[in-house]
Amino acid sequence: MGREQEDAGWEDDFLLGFGPMDEIHREFLDLVQALQVVPDGEVNAVLGRLADHAEHHFAEEAAWMSTGDFPARDCHVDEHDRVMASIREVQQLAAKGDRAVARRLARALEDWFPGHATYMDSALAQWMVKRSAGGAPIVFKRKKTDQS
Ligand SMILES: [Fe+2]
Ligand SMILES: [Fe+2]
Repeated sequence: MGREQEDAGWEDDFLLGFGPMDEIHREFLDLVQALQVVPDGEVNAVLGRLADHAEHHFAEEAAWMSTGDFPARDCHVDEHDRVMASIREVQQLAAKGDRAVARRLARALEDWFPGHATYMDSALAQWMVKRSAGGAPIVFKRKKTDQS
């Protein structure tokens, strides 16, 4: 796949400033784009790669959210879970030969992504940048006990 085709679904507006996340988002959009244009015979393989990617993408973001007390973790994770459930459902249908449903999923994910990136991922990206740029340090305090 050439660089031009690889970047077909990507816009620089999607850059959130946290490199590892931007890289994952570029890969996500590449796969979403590929799923719309590959020949029918490749749909299931690309869908499989998209499912693997999404598992990794969402697990990585969940791990970043867990590295501290990131606010609004639950609704972000809930949204990932709903998307993952849709991908799994479509995988089952596509495995039975319904390629059109996989193409519809790709378009739906393309529509879903900008809003998710703006409202959820951007907050996480900013938070991660702040942490790595030496924002508030993490302090581990020893728990006080009543025992002396
Ligand atoms: Fe993301
Ligand atoms: Fe996310």
